[in-house]
Amino acid sequence: MKEKPMLSYTLALAIHALATLAWVGGMIFAHLILRPAMADMALPLRLALWRRVLPRFFAVVWGSIIALLLTGYGVLFLGYRGGFTGGAVHIDIMQITGLIMIANFIYLYFGPFQAFKRRVDTEDHVKAAGSLNRIRHIVAINLILGLFTTAIGATGTLWAY
Ligand code: HEM
Repeated sequence: MKEKPMLSYTLALAIHALATLAWVGGMIFAHLILRPAMADMALPLRLALWRRVLPRFFAVVWGSIIALLLTGYGVLFLGYRGGFTGGAVHIDIMQITGLIMIANFIYLYFGPFQAFKRRVDTEDHVKAAGSLNRIRHIVAINLILGLFTTAIGATGTLWAY
């Protein structure tokens, strides 16, 4: 983009970057910091803590997803990045991996997460641990995709194409 970027474009990308930070940063904290720190706690206590942590974190993820979609597609629809026809390859890659992340999260939220809450609330600890394990796997996949997508989104304009 040769001319000075418009304020709305700048603002949209600032929100886009902050939404990325909240989602991917939250996954880093949950997966790489909180989870190992809780590893030697008794199972019922660990489950009870995740029962409080996950709804709060997932509310943030929903907010991030809405912000990422609105700002990402907003920028494309308004044509600031050449619209859909003149778009760049890094945006196509970001969109594909971003949409996979969103689909993974929607599955996680309405599948294993609902089961996890139900099972913790009825004190079915063994099955709740199984649901938590499923959530952990999906978060691990989304963490890898999120780091990749962030790197692609942040460096794409520097690629020589
Ligand atoms: C799923 C739909 C998405 C669309 C349509 C989209 C679209 C865009 C667009 C148009 C840009 C500007 C790129 C440029 O100026 O060259 C951008 C930047 C960026 N995107 Fe996305 N994006 C999406 C999802 C994501 C996701 C899921 C992440 C990370 C988890 C992400 C991370 C970034 C980053 C780090 C930047 C560069 C920083 C910034 O300028 O905000 N995007 N995205």
